[in-house]
Amino acid sequence: MKSVLITGTSKGLGNALLEVFLRNGWRVFALARKVNSFSKLTDLYQDTCIPIEADVTDENCSELIESIIKSKTKSLDILINNAGNAEKCFGIENVNPIDLDNHFKVHVSGAFRIIKSCLPYLKKSFEPIIINVSSRKGSINKINSGEYRILLPYQIAKAAQNMLTVGLNQELKNTKIKTYSIHPGNLKTDVAPPDADTEPTEAAEKIYNWIHSKENPSESFFHSIMDETTLEW
Ligand SMILES: NC(=O)c1ccc[n+]([C@@H]2O[C@H](COP(=O)([O-])OP(=O)(O)OC[C@H]3O[C@@H](n4cnc5c(N)ncnc54)[C@H](OP(=O)(O)O)[C@@H]3O)[C@@H](O)[C@H]2O)c1
Repeated sequence: MKSVLITGTSKGLGNALLEVFLRNGWRVFALARKVNSFSKLTDLYQDTCIPIEADVTDENCSELIESIIKSKTKSLDILINNAGNAEKCFGIENVNPIDLDNHFKVHVSGAFRIIKSCLPYLKKSFEPIIINVSSRKGSINKINSGEYRILLPYQIAKAAQNMLTVGLNQELKNTKIKTYSIHPGNLKTDVAPPDADTEPTEAAEKIYNWIHSKENPSESFFHSIMDETTLEW
């Protein structure tokens, strides 16, 4: 049975991804700060929905993650770093240095922590992949073009997360592991942008299909899911 670990499964895109993978017969390690938020799925998929109650910013969560994975499987096929925060603090006067730290802790050091916990299990998979759920707003080129309203903490954290993707691909190039950044679409979730036009369930289906596409997934390492284009870093 194939296994995936998804972070931030309490709501939004992470919850929709959890549902899609379970429905398609995967074992899912579902990491959330409150696992009772998806107790219906845990009840429905008792053997395959494995909750992990953890906060990705907690430096002590690695041990828990590793012990839960180890109790169920020897290998992990996919890791999806989806957990994210996006405080709407627009304008330099409304941004404090701590806001940058808080976003970095989730999108970058948090994602890195989960990657380190999963790495020994990913290395044992036949075709392992790591997907960092990034954002079009992490593209330095797009921000520089003036296309978006500036939201410094979020954009800086997503750009740094993109560097994590690129760096991992270089560092792991002699292994089978490939790392991707994706922009999942403009989603109608709690952190919806003004131009949100896509249900998270639709994006989750597309991500699932993209992972299983012929190119498997594709050579586009910063991939925009809904319009199937490659984004500039
Ligand atoms: N919405 C969009 O249009 C859009 C566009 C581009 C990229 N994204 C990215 O897509 C991902 C999912 O976002 P979403 O739209 O689904 O937002 P959402 O509905 O706010 O969901 C965010 C999820 O991340 C979890 N989370 C946040 N901090 C966490 C932490 N420290 N530890 C564990 N879980 C944590 C939340 O858990 P709690 O319930 O405990 O808060 C929640 O499950 C994010 O990385 C976001 O940046 C979204």
